[in-house]
Amino acid sequence: MERRFKINDIDVKARAGEHLLDVARRYGFEIPSLCHHEALPPIGACRICLVEVAWGGRRELCTSCNFEVIEGMQVTTDTPAVQHHRAMNLELLLARAPGSARLRELAAQYGVRRTRFGPPATSPLPNCILCELCVRACEQLGNHALTMVGRGDKKRIGLAFNSPSEQCTGCASCASVCPTECIPVKDTAAGRTIWGQTHPLVLCKVCGAPVMTERQRAKAIAKKGLPEEYYDFCESCKQSTASKRFASIVW
Ligand code: SF4
Ligand code: SF4
Ligand code: FES
Repeated sequence: MERRFKINDIDVKARAGEHLLDVARRYGFEIPSLCHHEALPPIGACRICLVEVAWGGRRELCTSCNFEVIEGMQVTTDTPAVQHHRAMNLELLLARAPGSARLRELAAQYGVRRTRFGPPATSPLPNCILCELCVRACEQLGNHALTMVGRGDKKRIGLAFNSPSEQCTGCASCASVCPTECIPVKDTAAGRTIWGQTHPLVLCKVCGAPVMTERQRAKAIAKKGLPEEYYDFCESCKQSTASKRFASIVW
């Protein structure tokens, strides 16, 4: 079913159940975000995507990434209240992640260049803003290796049960979605090291570039039933003569 409403006085349409941030971006409105990824369920953690929404006699500041559209509502993306609260939230996040270039740049756009708040008492993963994007990415892949552990000041992201995980394939998807780039990942001759585990890599038989980890390959073979040799080549070499046999197979 269709929903009609206004963003900054412009008429827009959306499907029932769509989230406001996705609709706003589709129409070209700029709303900043840190914990949002279009392929993952939103949880409204960073509160940077705040907008003002008026409907049924109410007017509220809402996180647009997890706000389902409402027929007839009026959305304003950049009021003084929105600016003020975004700046305050950025200042709070900056205390957690002073080393994040993306966060510092975004904060500077709101006039925030330093923070009055102190860093967390314990920080096993420096610059983590606890947005859980990494946890959601890992879940979406069906690996369920990561989780939020601890409470209050001691909250942190880590492998489930805080011990080596057979669920973790070393795919590094968590690191690639992390908005503050705070998850250390390193590829060496020994393999890919992430979350304290080193995963042997499958190297492209043509150019020697890492294709994926052996665990990822084993999981992909079990799931898709493709021959093991399919994973012997990186994406670009799959198109080459040496591997053209596999070029037509869609991942
Ligand atoms: S590297 Fe491990 S923890 Fe990170 S997304 Fe992949 S499976 Fe999950
Ligand atoms: S590690 Fe990155 S993605 Fe995961 S919660 Fe921390 S900031 Fe978010
Ligand atoms: S992007 Fe909406 S709360 Fe983080």
